Amino acid sequence: MTLPGAVITGWGTALPDTVVTNAQLEARLDTTDEWIVSRSGIRERHVGGTVSTLAIDAGRRALERAGLAPEQVDLLVLATCTPDLAVPATSAAVHFALGLSGGAFDVNAACAGFVYALVAAHGAVSCGAAQRVLVIGADCVSLLTDPDDRATAVLFADGAGAVVLEPSDDDGLLAVDFGVDGSAHDLLTCAHGGYMEMEGKEVFRRAVRTTVDSASRALQRANLTPDDIALFVPHQANLRIIEAVASRLGVPMQRVAVVVDRTGNTSSASVPLALADASDAGRLRPGDHVLMSGFGAGMTWASTVVRWNVDTAGSALASSPGTRGEKR
Ligand code: UT7
Repeated sequence: MTLPGAVITGWGTALPDTVVTNAQLEARLDTTDEWIVSRSGIRERHVGGTVSTLAIDAGRRALERAGLAPEQVDLLVLATCTPDLAVPATSAAVHFALGLSGGAFDVNAACAGFVYALVAAHGAVSCGAAQRVLVIGADCVSLLTDPDDRATAVLFADGAGAVVLEPSDDDGLLAVDFGVDGSAHDLLTCAHGGYMEMEGKEVFRRAVRTTVDSASRALQRANLTPDDIALFVPHQANLRIIEAVASRLGVPMQRVAVVVDRTGNTSSASVPLALADASDAGRLRPGDHVLMSGFGAGMTWASTVVRWNVDTAGSALASSPGTRGEKR
């Protein structure tokens, strides 16, 4: 029996309207634009909305790009580590608001969540459980960030990115590598009702080493080398991490997708935001190989190599009017 493959046929993004610049943070925290830019590469970030409002906007745009009616989609996989509510899964509200068919579930693998969700979606198509899947990565990490903690408040922000997966004889997902090192689960945490706490230096070290290893394994499984990669889409936590990973992998920065300067660290949303930005900028052609890698709390990681099969045309990261609900 030949299992059906799946390809990405649409993508969309949503960012809250409110932009917080480094100058604004400088005015209220013991920090400087120079520190933030030199240590993280972040210049501004978007803050506001809720995971469901952002996910709905990004999902709707991805459906439009794919030319699909909502009811043609029979599975929603939503990657988030900042759900609107503890119960039910945020995907239920998003599924209803978009008018999708079939099922829906959330995935929490922190900043690796979107790639995990993509793998789960691909598996659902392959085994015939679903025909068309909407995969969304959405997080409002600013809600879990202490606004007075300069170590985290300058880094984390909000956003959503989505892709549509549809069946194809010519499978677009060529290889996967994922894993978790639970022995390091206490390096990046947020207790119920608390704020994000991170051992930044150790997380930095692990992010570089783990992303290089995972991306290399995915490339090897796809029988590809870094030279075969048209676009590398790493997790957008820190420009210095992205540059170190790209350099060690041997992928020049011209072939790396970067939005962290404009978005900050949006966790599950970061990989699809960067992917959509690159495809909207016309950086992808049918047949191109795209390497995506996420790394985050857990510590989780996930990499995949996909073959792009859509012609892209220019537009920018979408902004979305976000109304923020009550703090959880
Ligand atoms: O998304 C999940 C994965 N997350 C990540 O990958 C994040 C990984 N970590 C990082 O990106 C970096 O470690 C940070 C950007 C968080 C920090 O950069 P760093 O170069 O590792 O700085 P540091 O934590 O060692 O801090 C250096 C100094 C400290 O002062 P002392 O102890 O040297 O006096 C901090 O207190 O910088 C101080 N500092 C700040 N100074 C000005 C920390 N935050 C700030 C700030 N402004 N916002």
